[in-house]
Order: sequence, then C-alpha cells, then structure tokens
Amino acid sequence: MTSDTSTRDLLAAADLDALYPVLDANRMTAGWHKKRPSLWKEPRTAFRPLHWRYDVGALALDQAGRWMDTELAERRNLLLFNPVGDNDYDTVNTLVAAYQMIKPGEHAKAHRHTPNAMRIILDAAPGCFTVVDGVKLPMRTGDVLLTPSMGWHSHYNIGDANAYWIDVLDVPLVHRLEPMFVEHLPGGTQAETSSPAEHPYAFPLAAMLAKLESVKAERGVKRLRADTADHFKTMAITYCQIAAGAAERTVANTASRVVIVLGGRGTAQVGDQAFAWSRGDVIAVPSWTPHAFEATESALLVEVSDEPALRALGFYREQP
Ligand SMILES: [Fe+2]
Repeated sequence: MTSDTSTRDLLAAADLDALYPVLDANRMTAGWHKKRPSLWKEPRTAFRPLHWRYDVGALALDQAGRWMDTELAERRNLLLFNPVGDNDYDTVNTLVAAYQMIKPGEHAKAHRHTPNAMRIILDAAPGCFTVVDGVKLPMRTGDVLLTPSMGWHSHYNIGDANAYWIDVLDVPLVHRLEPMFVEHLPGGTQAETSSPAEHPYAFPLAAMLAKLESVKAERGVKRLRADTADHFKTMAITYCQIAAGAAERTVANTASRVVIVLGGRGTAQVGDQAFAWSRGDVIAVPSWTPHAFEATESALLVEVSDEPALRALGFYREQP
C-alpha cells in the first residue's frame, strides 16, 4: 500500500468502525481494540504439569536403539515435550529435558552450541565419559555434568552396558531470544587434553551427598544449590533431599522447572495434577504453579530452573 493510498483511505473513514480495517491494512492495531489483552494480573502459562517415567523412557530408547545408531542420529534422545499447541519440543517454557542413551562402543559426535546443557546420569557402567572442551569427565550414576554455552562436547561408552541419562538444556529460551548458533566439529572427535579428578563442570553424586550431610534439614528437607553461577547464566541446579514422610512445598513463583528424581519414591502435587514418582522420572513444573513433593521413601531430587535468567532480568517473583 502506498502512502498516498493510506492517506486517502484514512481520510475516507467515516467512523471508528470504518477506520479499523484501514489500520489493519497498514499493519496497525488500535490498542483499545485489540483481539486479546496484552497485560494480565498474574502469570499465565499454557504449559501443563506433566510426569514422565524412566522405565518407559528407557524402554523407548532400547526399542529406538534397534534401528537408530549414533552414526545416523547425532544424539539418540527422546525429547519430553509438553503438548501445548503444536509444540513437540519444549518441556516447559524455557527448558527442554530429554532421555538419552548410548550403547557400548558408541560415540556421540562433538558439537557446540549457544544453549547451555547438563547431563544427569541415571545409569552408567564404568567406561562412560563425556569430553567438554577437551576435558574428559566420567559419567557415573547420579553425577551431574555441565556443558556451558559454546563448549565442545561429545559422549563415549567404552563399557559393556547401555548408558542412560537426562539432558536438560535452555534451548526453548534460546529459541525465544533467538541467539542460536551450532557448529559440528569436522571429524566429530575432539582431542582429550586432560582427565582431572575434580572439575567445576562435574558434580559427582558422592561429593554432593557429602555436602548435603552438613546442610541443616528443615522439616525433613535439605536443599543445596549447586555452584554453577560462574558457568550458567540461565539455569540453576538445586539438590533436594527429602526424608521419608517429609515434603518439600514451594509457593507459586515465576521460574519454570524440571525436576529429576535421582533416588527414592514419593508423590507430587503440581498445580492440580498428582503424580507418583520414582528414580529416573522427570516432572515438569511450569511457572507460577505451586508444587509439593512428598517422599514415601528417602528421596533425592535435582531441580533445574530458569530462576537465574528471571533474576538477571528483574522478573523473579514469588506469590506473597
Ligand atoms: Fe549438544
């Protein structure tokens, strides 16, 4: 539409109702006449509380593994999506969680990307390791390993059993903000430059349990925030140890979360949904959803949230 046409049509409008289609043709919406509100009283999310079971995820990976190898698929993973509209990727608004498996002798090729990633190891026999920017880190059951933004990473299984873990990444946040970059290392294999006993990207289960020993329990619940702030700007990792019979209760807040069960059993109430969980399960907790996790046997949860991203932007709030 030329500016002459716009001028003519605007001047020809006899009233507001006649003006609206002219505004529309000029790609303008009258703020007082829009189709849907742009502001609302408190957070709304279309994402739903959901629960995925590890036994189902592991069996699904075993079945997929009959036909799909790490040469065909760079990663043999199953994305835990929240059925919102046509979404088939995001677990909650800012985070994606996936079950991943590699078989003995397989190698997930080296790549790097702007999204931050972590691995929460569910089952791995000796011989599984990841390499992050040349640093070889063992993948042992219960360990949490970081792959910060733009770190080269590849995964190996030279043991004798399938290895299973959960990946959590901030890809949906990157999709929304749009700074996506990915590179594939030519040849797919990065040189291993070191194999340290300790590393700031590695949170071994044994070390985290030892740290939890000195945390004071409140009503049977211990919480320990992993020291990731120097490496992750968008995600926080919190260990939550719940004694049998105790419950961790959280008021509605603006962070989105995925909760991974490292051990134990219990029930969860997430918004209006109730779940029974056990080791290896994943639970999606959308923003502004009050939630409670009650342990029927002593439990260890790992909660991954986007709280640092919200705090950095000044948007973190809790229900009073
Ligand atoms: Fe990756």
